[in-house]
Amino acid sequence: MLIKSKKSSEFLESQVTDETIYQSRRKVLKQLGFVGASALLAGNSLPGKAWAESNSTFKTSALNFKKSEYTNVPDKLTPEQKVISHNNFYEFGAKKDQPAELAQHFKVDPWQLKITGEVDKPFTLDYDELFSSFTIEERIYRLRCVEAWSMVIPWLGFRLADVIKKAQPNSKAKYVAFKTLHDPKQMPGQSNRYLGGGIQYPYIEGLRIDEAMNDLTLLSVGLYGKTLPPQNGAPIRLVTPWKYGFKSIKSIIEIKLVEKMPKTTWNKLAPNEYGFYANVNPDVDHPRWSQASERRITSGGLFARNRIETQMFNGYGEEVADLYKGMNLGKYY
Ligand code: MTE
Repeated sequence: MLIKSKKSSEFLESQVTDETIYQSRRKVLKQLGFVGASALLAGNSLPGKAWAESNSTFKTSALNFKKSEYTNVPDKLTPEQKVISHNNFYEFGAKKDQPAELAQHFKVDPWQLKITGEVDKPFTLDYDELFSSFTIEERIYRLRCVEAWSMVIPWLGFRLADVIKKAQPNSKAKYVAFKTLHDPKQMPGQSNRYLGGGIQYPYIEGLRIDEAMNDLTLLSVGLYGKTLPPQNGAPIRLVTPWKYGFKSIKSIIEIKLVEKMPKTTWNKLAPNEYGFYANVNPDVDHPRWSQASERRITSGGLFARNRIETQMFNGYGEEVADLYKGMNLGKYY
């Protein structure tokens, strides 16, 4: 079906088995020529160690929010400490613990989020307006990473649909493109390929307009009752719980309504492995691993065995299956 790629997307593969993360990541880095053999032998020589001392200096603050219909879930929450310390945010390092270390000095205020493109009323939200323009509600969603681990997270945020409606899209608005901040001075992975996994920055994601308008699609400004920590995408990130986690782009500065399907980061790197749609689908395996099950990150130890079956659309079929009626989901993965 799908063919193996030898591109930088190997970084995601290297993280599928947590126990082997260091070894396989280093092997891939070496294969890609990002790091010399001598550096690999020196255990602490990878970038990131220099910052290891920096403690949590970033301050989050409590947010006012209302409960929503999406808080009544059977799943047990992933403990906050795990949500904020096991991250994928390659701008701050391709290793799971690096974002929490390296993003502590990230400046989120001032911030500007532009809503632009094929709209009649483009507008910009500054930092304070991210928290005051729309009603913030709590939603507990499952987050299923393409690497076959998952979490259950109490997000705070508002519907992307409300933001788009306010901008009044015109008839050419068929897709929505999202862009992460590009600031290599603050985001060391954007200028250092050891850290950044060889990704071409800025990180770009996209949705079809009907996916963007779906009730589940959330712009998140917080989790566990507080503003987002930088490693989770402060000050604002996308959450699309029926799609693999890489669609949930962090630290967004632009939401652009466009006519053509945007070229997205992971899809550009390895189109045969990471589709534009990226809907969670236990029947369509990644070329190099099964997507039939996942490791749920709970309160157990780091390597706790907690494997569960993956659900179609991550269990959100009732809300989203109609969006894909008649589509061949093996072809449009
Ligand atoms: N957004 C940006 N800008 N850069 C990234 O590296 N990683 C994605 C997504 N958003 C990523 C990103 C991936 S692969 C996942 S699984 C989720 O963020 C992880 O979100 P979390 O760290 O809050 O769990």
